[in-house]
Formats: sequence, structure tokens, C-alpha cells
Amino acid sequence: MIVSVPKETAAGETRVALTPDVVKRLVGAGTTVRIEGGAGLAAGFPDDAYAELGAEIVTGADAAWKDADVVVKVQPPTSEETAKLKQRSVLIGLLQPFTNQELVTDLASRGVTSFGLEALPRITRAQSMDVLSSMSTVAGYKAVLLGAGASGKLFPMLTTAAGTVVPARVLVLGAGVAGLQAIATARRLGAVVKAFDVRPEVKEQVESLGADFIVADEAAVEASGEGGYAKELTEDQHHKELELIGRNLGDIDVVITTALIPGKPAPQLITDAMLQQMKPGAVVVDLAAEAGGNCAGAKAGEEVEVHGVKILGLLNLPASVPLDASRMYARNMMTFLNHITKDGELNLDLEDEITGGTCITHEGKIVHEAVSKALNEGSGS
Ligand code: NAI
Repeated sequence: MIVSVPKETAAGETRVALTPDVVKRLVGAGTTVRIEGGAGLAAGFPDDAYAELGAEIVTGADAAWKDADVVVKVQPPTSEETAKLKQRSVLIGLLQPFTNQELVTDLASRGVTSFGLEALPRITRAQSMDVLSSMSTVAGYKAVLLGAGASGKLFPMLTTAAGTVVPARVLVLGAGVAGLQAIATARRLGAVVKAFDVRPEVKEQVESLGADFIVADEAAVEASGEGGYAKELTEDQHHKELELIGRNLGDIDVVITTALIPGKPAPQLITDAMLQQMKPGAVVVDLAAEAGGNCAGAKAGEEVEVHGVKILGLLNLPASVPLDASRMYARNMMTFLNHITKDGELNLDLEDEITGGTCITHEGKIVHEAVSKALNEGSGS
């Protein structure tokens, strides 16, 4: 079996789907690993590091895509790249299948078996393959560093000959994987941290990291959904949530927002009026910018200033920490590869919850029901 790693071509993408440590284990298990020359360079892994551990280095995209039994990627491929895949080969990566109609249709028509890692079931057995979790961990960490960098405040309390510096106050909205890592990182930097989530079950986790969980007067803002995710709030609940957040914003130096609802636009948690009540020089780091933003005025990929508050609408933060983000991604990928192979050969069991749940196209068809439904709704048919 040939597993191939092409160089990522999406703008700003610095990660690579397999790192040398993982290549060593795959080669040891009898897999031929092919790396496009330069694929790992932006992440800090030169060709030699792969070659020393048994990978075959090839020159150019054609050599990386053609003849591979399995192609592993971070970002979705372009149509030119998809056209290079051999019939009945396997493609694994973050394929954005719920919105990328052209790619999914193309993969099906080419008979490619594709696995979109964003569709991986969030069950205990699949945790070690969960790239969404590992990339959210990286994003939550980096968001705090960027927020601290953009803030005029020092984060820790300092007692100096020039007087005492009070610690920064940080509010984290959305305490899922990214939010919890943001809380932990802000606490390590010495900030005083508060957090809120519509899933009350995270209160304990927030408190165990040394942050305060802010609660509504009435337990009115709760919206736990299926699979550990949140549901959309009703209008009345949303109104109550905004009041709650508004009451807690006045003394905040940095807000990190991470709130997402699967398949819906990101909920707005900071309105224009709330920005006006914030301290001048305060910073909002909006990790939901790509999904429409949690903060009014946030622009995806840009830093803007509204009513004296800096809003960082960040995109693809994991690519800004490519070394460890790639290592984590690669370990997740290897575990997934091990799951779909046996004795070094593909062994696809689509009845299996993990394999079937992640498979988007197979034998000429779109086999993932939720993807099919989302694409049909998206195209209006
Ligand atoms: P996510 O990225 O979809 O959402 C981030 C957070 O925003 C969530 O905690 C959600 O409750 C919160 N949120 C949504 N609407 C909100 C609102 N209006 N106000 C405040 N907060 C709001 O979620 P993520 O981080 O990917 O995972 C969520 C949960 O999924 C985890 O906490 C865990 O329970 C579960 N999970 C399970 C895994 C497994 O068992 N393999 C792996 C990863 C996550």
C-alpha cells in the first residue's frame, strides 16, 4: 500500500498531514510512504528527516498524487489535484464535505473513497483520531497569546519596585475544546478568568482549571444538544444570555469567543452596544469569525477596531503553530489509518461506526447521509 503526502497548496497552510515520527511507524508496519519534496518544510520537517526514517521523497505534485493508494491531506484538494487521484483510491483529510459540493461530487464521480475527518463521530473510541479536537486545542492556546499580544495589559499580577500590576481579566465564551484550552493558557499566564457556555455540564471543567463559571440568575440559558454539542438558543434565551454577558464585560481586558453550533451560523454573543460598554483598549479574539463571528463587527482574517475595542477575526490558527499542530494532526491521522487497515493493506468496514461515520464517498456514491442532506439543502434542490 502506498500512502502519499502531497504538499499543501491552500494559501497560508503550513501544516503537513504526516510527520517523520509517524512515517517511521507506518514504514515499520510495511507501508510505503511517499512524501512530495518540501511538503513538511513550512512545518519544520525537511525532506531528509522523512527520508532518514524510510519515506520515499518524490518531486512534484504529479508524482505525489498519481499511483497512491491512499492520499492524506490537511486541506481539501483543488479540482486539479482531485483529477490526479487514481480510480478507487482513498483520500483522507479535512475535506469540508458539508459545504464543498463540487469536491464531494467530483470525488464520487471518480470512484474515490473519501474520509472527511470533520465527520468523525465524537465517541470515546475515536478520541485519538479527532483532529477537530487537537486543532481546537492549538487554536485556543494561540488565541490567548494573540489576545495578550494585542492587549496593553500585562497578564500576571506583578509586585515590583514600580508598584503592583493587577492581573489581566479574561472572559472566555464557549467552553468546548478551544475554550477550555484558552482558559488553561490564560490562567498559566496569570490572568483572572471567567467563562460561560450554554452547556451547564462544563461548569465543573471550567472551575477545575481555576476559572469562574458565570451563571444566569435563572437557569434559563441552557442548550445542551446531541453528541456533546450545543443547540441554538431560543430568542428569549439568547436575549438573557446577552444580558448575562453584558453584566460581566465591564472590567474585561481580553475576551476569547469560541461559540459554535454545528451546521448553523455562529451565535452573536457581543453586540455593537456591548462593545461600547467595554474598556477602551480591550481586545476580543473571535475564533468563530469564519462561521460569521461571535462578535459584532468581526471580520474573518482581519483585525479591526470598533468603539476602541480591537477585534481579531482569526482564521486557521493551527497553521500558525505548524510544528506541533502537524505532529498532533499526524498522530490522529496514523490512528485513523491503523483503524482502516489490516496487515498493511486497506480493510474498509463501512458498517463500523468510525469508518462508516467518516466516509463521505464510496464506489461512485455520496454515502454520508448528513453530507448528502446538507449539500441538497445548500443547492436548493
Ligand atoms: P464546538 O466547537 O462546536 O463549540 C464550542 C463551544 O461553544 C461548545 O462548548 C458549545 O457548547 C459552545 N456554545 C455554543 N453556543 C453557545 C452560546 N450561545 N453561548 C455560549 N457558548 C456556546 O464544540 P467542541 O469544542 O468541538 O466540542 C464540544 C463538546 O463535544 C466537548 O466539550 C465534548 O463534550 C464533546 N467532544 C467529544 C469528543 C469525544 O468524545 N471524542 C471529542 C471532542 C469533543
